[in-house]
Amino acid sequence: MLSASAGAALLGFVRPSLSQASQSHRIAVARGQAPLTGPRRPATDVWAYDGVVPGPTLRVRQGEPVSIVVDNGLEEDTTVHWHGIRLPIGMDGVPGISQAPIRPGEKFVYEFTPPDAGTFWYHPHANTLEQLGRGLAGALIVEERSPVPVDRELVWTIMDWRLRPDGQIARGFGNMMEAAMSGRIGNTVTINGVVPTVEPVRAGERVRIRLINAALARIMALRFEGHHPVVVAIDGQPCDPHVPKHGRLLLGPAMRIDIVLDMQGEPSRRYEVIDDFDEELKYSLVELAYDAAPPMRMHPSEAPLRLPRNPLPTPDLKAAELRELVLQGGMMGMRGMGGMARMGRAAWAINSTSMTGDGHAGMPPLATLELGRSYVLRLRNDTAWWHPMHLHGHSFRVLSRNGAPVPHNQWADTVLVAPKETVDVAFVADNPGDWMLHCHVTDHQTAGLMATLRIEGAGSETR
Ligand code: C2O
Ligand code: CU
Ligand code: CU
Repeated sequence: MLSASAGAALLGFVRPSLSQASQSHRIAVARGQAPLTGPRRPATDVWAYDGVVPGPTLRVRQGEPVSIVVDNGLEEDTTVHWHGIRLPIGMDGVPGISQAPIRPGEKFVYEFTPPDAGTFWYHPHANTLEQLGRGLAGALIVEERSPVPVDRELVWTIMDWRLRPDGQIARGFGNMMEAAMSGRIGNTVTINGVVPTVEPVRAGERVRIRLINAALARIMALRFEGHHPVVVAIDGQPCDPHVPKHGRLLLGPAMRIDIVLDMQGEPSRRYEVIDDFDEELKYSLVELAYDAAPPMRMHPSEAPLRLPRNPLPTPDLKAAELRELVLQGGMMGMRGMGGMARMGRAAWAINSTSMTGDGHAGMPPLATLELGRSYVLRLRNDTAWWHPMHLHGHSFRVLSRNGAPVPHNQWADTVLVAPKETVDVAFVADNPGDWMLHCHVTDHQTAGLMATLRIEGAGSETR
């Protein structure tokens, strides 16, 4: 006699396990230690959420109020930003702009109701370069009311570390030379807090993988040797399920991609997952290691992969106002920067202005947008470098790249803009507040590739 779940597996999928979501959480921020390079090597001193790197994966339910208490046990101010969640400005976690910083020994209660299901993440927005670079990041999963049927789900929170030979984090956060180039790229890539060796899989199973790039600066292009990942969501937002061009998943810092992977490999074999964003520095991130069991099913499942829609407001493209944002600066492109001499702490600018560090409350917004209106942001990259450009508090539709329409109905909160590329995105300015817009290569952000957009009602007093 088959057990109930084995019976179900033969017919189709195991029933999705009961939701592990919980709407109230408490996380402590403090120094800790993490065995990044495995149990036989010395542990690394880190800054951690609840003592683990990455922080605990928070699972919550879509459309239901969430409360998360954050206790700051660091010796410096911190905040938590819920990256990608459309929430009220006061919960956005930008110190001095959307909230007062959480002082050492103090706490803050974040409360919001996530409107969208999907893969999000959380990280500090205070001294971000060092706090994120020392380990403060975690996954935030907003569960769909009816998930796509898969056999298993994995979350890969990918981080990049610059470790010294003794296993400790190298100093020197905020090196201006690096900030004007690709940022602080590390030498050790971890998945869920350890340098991975293998990901055990079973032939024939269908797995959803939530990929999260929580690195400071490393852009990745992942290829699953011998497999055909289907992209079902980008930055948490469902897209038309599609196989990416050349099978490459391009993942800049802060970006997420949900894939569905049918394990079509042979039992007992291993297949590499390769990051070849930089062809010369390509490396094997991890191996899918098949167990010896015969395939669970002979043919990939026919079950549909389309995720349920999120309640995103559709921009009115005919009425949308165009705002051009020119990304300037960096090595080999100081034009528009007023030259090295006047740079100071800024190596980058947007429309010739640079907000640096954690941001500056006194600085005027780059643009003021009218609440409820549709906008097209034209991100024109005048630099020689890649920039994952992120807008807080909204998701935007990625319309076109260099004028060519972007297929598959892609929405995002962080869009990777290639050197000299122009990307148009559209959104409805439906969330009032001063919202950060910045590059998520953290050194670029803190060295000037940052601004705020003010969204306010026509009748509002603040100018
Ligand atoms: Cu992921 Cu301004 O943040
Ligand atoms: Cu964000
Ligand atoms: Cu950048």
